[in-house]
Amino acid sequence: MLSFSVALDPNKGIGYKNTLPWHIKEELQIFKRNTLYKNIVMGRNTYESLPGKLKDRYITVISLNDNYHPEDVKVEHSLLNFLKEHENDEIEYVICGGASIYKVAYPYCKKAYVSFIKKEYETDTSFESFDLNDWNITKEEEYQEFTYRELEKKQWFEYHCFL
Ligand SMILES: NC(=O)c1ccc[n+]([C@@H]2O[C@H](COP(=O)([O-])OP(=O)(O)OC[C@H]3O[C@@H](n4cnc5c(N)ncnc54)[C@H](OP(=O)(O)O)[C@@H]3O)[C@@H](O)[C@H]2O)c1
Repeated sequence: MLSFSVALDPNKGIGYKNTLPWHIKEELQIFKRNTLYKNIVMGRNTYESLPGKLKDRYITVISLNDNYHPEDVKVEHSLLNFLKEHENDEIEYVICGGASIYKVAYPYCKKAYVSFIKKEYETDTSFESFDLNDWNITKEEEYQEFTYRELEKKQWFEYHCFL
């Protein structure tokens, strides 16, 4: 099963200068809660933007570069093959961005962990295809700077998306 985790502002902005536009401790804690001991998947830019190692997670980095071999992570060269191979697995793979990975993975994800940041930020990357109408809300938590929601894809999405 494929899911994704993202924090986005009211304009669907997610990043600025290859980092997060905000620093919200509670949001980072939610990311940790949702990814700990899981398989997580991210693009090379996002991986390289991490301030340190993400402990206790099994990381797959997506890169077209055959010579890219960072320590302690798996590298996949074909994102589409990876998505098709794992979309029906019992275990969960959490897609963790960035923009280029969310864009391709969105139709394949059945579940989502989304923090809706309340304030608008200056951003240069966004998650344009995300649409809350595609999802049922299964959980909601209110924080000062964001609303956290867990989402499950509506069944009609697959028809709607591929027609
Ligand atoms: N707000 C959030 O929740 C959140 C989460 C994650 C990231 N972000 C932000 O998003 C921004 C980064 O996004 P981004 O789009 O620039 O970078 P990205 O998606 O993290 O990484 C892009 C790289 O991934 C590889 N890639 C992408 N598509 C591929 C494909 N189809 N097949 C094989 N490899 C592929 C390429 O690596 P190679 O060049 O090595 O081939 C590409 O240069 C940052 O600002 C980051 O902070 C925000």
